[in-house]
Amino acid sequence: MKIAQVTPNNKERKNRLVKTVEQLTEEDKNLDFFPEHYKNTKYFEKEYLNRRKYDVIIIEQGNAAIGYIIGIKKTRHVYGVEMHYVIPDMRGFGIAKQLKRALEERARQQDFKLITSYATIDNHASIKLNENANYRQETIGHYVYFRKEL
Ligand SMILES: CC(C)(COP(=O)(O)OP(=O)(O)OC[C@H]1O[C@@H](n2cnc3c(N)ncnc32)[C@H](O)[C@@H]1OP(=O)(O)O)[C@@H](O)C(=O)NCCC(=O)NCCS
Repeated sequence: MKIAQVTPNNKERKNRLVKTVEQLTEEDKNLDFFPEHYKNTKYFEKEYLNRRKYDVIIIEQGNAAIGYIIGIKKTRHVYGVEMHYVIPDMRGFGIAKQLKRALEERARQQDFKLITSYATIDNHASIKLNENANYRQETIGHYVYFRKEL
């Protein structure tokens, strides 16, 4: 398995990532992990794969992307996790944990001081992941908000 950053000019890597977005869309038909616009591949490419505001990190196995994480540069010091996804067959092997660590490292390198994310209160995997990584958490309504100093 290989962790890599997706850059706008690496077409092959971008295509691999878009395939996992298609899987997410399929899985999410009944589940609704993410708002609708995240699942539109055209929007996804335009918004996330060509703008400096985001860092996109994927994990590859052979020629396929099996998971990804997207970070957003929110303010001068605050960084956020915009999306985090691992394909269903590969869950439970610590892949999301590795992606999150890589993203935190990327945020640190760019001198961000705080990283935030959130999940719905029934997303036990995401909550556990953030707890294990020492994020502070606060529940407001249907969401749990996470934050950690970098
Ligand atoms: C959330 C998600 C990214 C986790 O991916 P993953 O690769 O399976 O996560 P990891 O294997 O790194 O596991 C992280 C921790 O969560 C725990 N965990 C995984 N699934 C769990 C579940 N269903 N219930 C409780 N804990 C769970 C793992 O045991 C692990 O903790 P541990 O290290 O103490 O054993 C993945 O489930 C996913 O893509 N879900 C759909 C999209 C989503 O919800 N994204 C996050 C939106 S905020």
